[in-house]
Amino acid sequence: MNYKKVLSLKNLSKSFGRIVANQDVSLDLYQGEILALLGENGAGKTTLMNMLFGHYIPDSGHIEVADETGHFSELTLGNPQGAIAAGIGMVHQHFTLAENLDAVDNITLGAEPLRSLRRNRSKAEKKIQYLIDNSGLSAPLNIPVGRLTVGERQRVEILKALYRNVRILVLDEPTAVLTPQEADTLFENIAAMAADSLSVIFISHKLREVLAFSHRISVLRLGKNVGEIDTSEADEQKIASLMVGTKTSHPERMVTSVGSPVLRLENLSIAGRGRRDSLKNINLTVFSGEILGVAGVSGNGQAPLAGLISGMLRPEAGQIILDNQEVKQINPAEMIAKRVGRIPEDRHRDGIVGSMSVAENLIIEGLNEKKFQNYGMLKRENISKHAEALLTDYDVRGPGSAAPAQLLSGGNIQKLILARVFHEKPLLILANQPTRGLDMGAAADVAHRLIEARDRGAGIILISEDLDEILRLADRILVMHDGAFVETETRDRAELGLLMAGQAA
Ligand SMILES: Nc1ncnc2c1ncn2[C@@H]1O[C@H](COP(=O)(O)OP(=O)(O)OP(=O)(O)O)[C@@H](O)[C@H]1O
Ligand SMILES: [Mg+2]
Repeated sequence: MNYKKVLSLKNLSKSFGRIVANQDVSLDLYQGEILALLGENGAGKTTLMNMLFGHYIPDSGHIEVADETGHFSELTLGNPQGAIAAGIGMVHQHFTLAENLDAVDNITLGAEPLRSLRRNRSKAEKKIQYLIDNSGLSAPLNIPVGRLTVGERQRVEILKALYRNVRILVLDEPTAVLTPQEADTLFENIAAMAADSLSVIFISHKLREVLAFSHRISVLRLGKNVGEIDTSEADEQKIASLMVGTKTSHPERMVTSVGSPVLRLENLSIAGRGRRDSLKNINLTVFSGEILGVAGVSGNGQAPLAGLISGMLRPEAGQIILDNQEVKQINPAEMIAKRVGRIPEDRHRDGIVGSMSVAENLIIEGLNEKKFQNYGMLKRENISKHAEALLTDYDVRGPGSAAPAQLLSGGNIQKLILARVFHEKPLLILANQPTRGLDMGAAADVAHRLIEARDRGAGIILISEDLDEILRLADRILVMHDGAFVETETRDRAELGLLMAGQAA
């Protein structure tokens, strides 16, 4: 690696009301470097990158960027167009794609004038294909993005940044939605692009990939720089102590006795548009007091499975039996009434109403309770008391219970959803990628809560692409492949990997 500096963030500070998101933060980036930016949920990582990309105007400090000849100049603050022109690209923590447009339109949107785009779509497609060939990031290009898996959407987001000829690429939790294999491939491609002089800052909570793929690590805590370390000198303990000052531990998996079935799916089928939307005559029983792990590469039927259990999708054949009663009306309200708790995969889209307050989001599924309303009149005081208690209990940090939920950091949005779900003491919990995007401490907390819920008798379906998480938490494991389940006793990573790839072990 050479040591030509390409970017300098100097003494940046940013507050939102009483919340100091960044305080006097400085950061340098070198050409061809892969820098990992770490910190707990709410530490200020996204805010810092949003200032770099011009989404937020710093309260103080400035930013200097080198042009192609190595000449430094000051970046105009609060101007995304200027950032893009300076060769800076950012892939956001949550999706920013237009769901009704296809990938080509999304990638080129804003980069090409619309009129020339219609004429030159094939030219744009060629450039995109070139980027795909060189980055290894593939996704269906010609169907609406809303129908892609989250993994595919993430790849489209990255292609969109690459399409703008970036020299500095910022990735905010790029692998949070990718499978371990996809994540490795992505980083191998990023490493190759970095070797070819792309400079990269990525935010991640996954220490394994940070240690494997970054050159240098910078850590924020409570909005401030607390340390920088060469990756070659780092290990998990060192990073963890920089981030939180203490060690976190994962709970031990213990064997508990299981009870009666809480959920049975019988001969359920959904004939979707393709593999990702189909279920092929599946049967499943979840018992009280167990965590059933559903492993698999996303796009193999997890989405319709989750859709069914949360009442968003209706099967074409088969039955859903909850707590020994067939569910006749399959819709979300009915599932909530039958005490199904749901931690959705796409938390921004399906987990919160961003414009509603944190407090309202916490009762969104219990709005009819007398405690919270009377003949349609909201009981504000009860709602906010309820919220304050949950925010403390679940350590949801941010601008407070009256603020719109969309102002919470990514990890804190997930904590809000967890608080809502666990508080209701559900009979069945559908946990779809529950620790995605959470820092180590928060992820360990989710694990504790799931185990706690199991131990008081809930049945839990844990859908996760993180095999380590499945192995750590699941009492029983099913692998999903091509819309069907493969039952297995094995707890061997390699064998599970083969089943996930559709090869019988
Ligand atoms: N627009 C905003 N208005 C008010 N508060 C905000 C806003 N944006 C961020 N914050 C607050 O600033 C703090 C830092 O948030 P930020 O999103 O930068 O954290 P983060 O390190 O990216 O966390 P995570 O790992 O959970 O994504 C949080 O307390 C967040 O709630
Ligand atoms: Mg963030």
